[in-house]
Amino acid sequence: MLSDNSDEERVVAERAPTVRWSGSGLDILDQTALPHAEEVLHCETVGDVVEAIRRLSVRGAPAIGVAGAYGVALAATLHDPATDREAFDAAVASLRDARPTAVNLRRMVERVASKAGDGVTAVLAEAHAIRDEELGASISMGERGADLLLELVGLRPLKVMTICNTGGLAAVDRGTALAVIQTLHERSLLVEALPLETRPLLQGARLTTWELARMGAPHRLVVDSAAAFLLSRGAADAIVVGADRIAANGDTANKIGTFALALAARQAGVPFVVVAPESTVDIDTPSGDVIVIEDRGSDEVCSFAGVRVCPPGTQAINPAFDVTPVAFIDALVTERRVVHFRSGDTLESVTAGQNV
Ligand code: MRU
Repeated sequence: MLSDNSDEERVVAERAPTVRWSGSGLDILDQTALPHAEEVLHCETVGDVVEAIRRLSVRGAPAIGVAGAYGVALAATLHDPATDREAFDAAVASLRDARPTAVNLRRMVERVASKAGDGVTAVLAEAHAIRDEELGASISMGERGADLLLELVGLRPLKVMTICNTGGLAAVDRGTALAVIQTLHERSLLVEALPLETRPLLQGARLTTWELARMGAPHRLVVDSAAAFLLSRGAADAIVVGADRIAANGDTANKIGTFALALAARQAGVPFVVVAPESTVDIDTPSGDVIVIEDRGSDEVCSFAGVRVCPPGTQAINPAFDVTPVAFIDALVTERRVVHFRSGDTLESVTAGQNV
């Protein structure tokens, strides 16, 4: 059994344990049960972890990267790579392929697996390092993103719209776009957050409202289809969203509905800002056209809260993500840089670390 006594583990334990190494596996807060129940899933096999990722018990790009990383540590404890390489490699492949769109999953799984030759302790240490990096990144993104919004909009309390869930549930703590909202709230500069419901799985209605309530931040939930109209009437000063993969040209895959929100933002003249860690930037993907978009099938669309709402036989199209062309993104905030796409910056021209 491998134990973990880090300070970060203690901090995470005081709040919802999105993903935590238990010493013999992973403990995952089952997000499918939220907000009604806080249930922890104990994953003792790699198959348990893969299933938890697929069913969205753990979700959000950074969080599935961390879950995948610990999944590899679990694989290494169950199948010693020195003596049982074939089983280890098969377990790694199943984790890497559990969901296709967020680059964090594949990247973190491969990063941890690359330590296999150094032994199980090194593998687990790499997974902890990834968790710690995501924790640190969330704090910086929150500060940097809040500063940027105040610069773009003016130094006054803000109304901020967002989509999906990008808080501690989607990362390890604080999150990405929601970390910006949390930081504004902590600075007493948040009038209100306006999370979109995020059909069909309601990550905004179920999870973002739960997190905003826990942080005591003022908020009102918005029906997805009301966003464009509300923006046209001045309901929000800025929009912040997360990302699942950012291509080399800046095109950004994120939860379905993000592209429509970006179009509405541009029409209304409202700044649209992507907030994501460097671990989500994928320079090996040249543009958004080649990002694989997960389709999650008809059932999630044809049912509501577990009750079927369509006639038998109805088929649905259910892309879990869309791609917002970089032309509609004003800026990207990561833990190490701000890229002002609207002013002509590119990911290449503003290299990570350049404008820290
Ligand atoms: O399908 P999900 O719930 O995993 O989708 C998550 C999102 O699209 C988030 O906006 C994205 O991962 C950024 S999370 C910090």
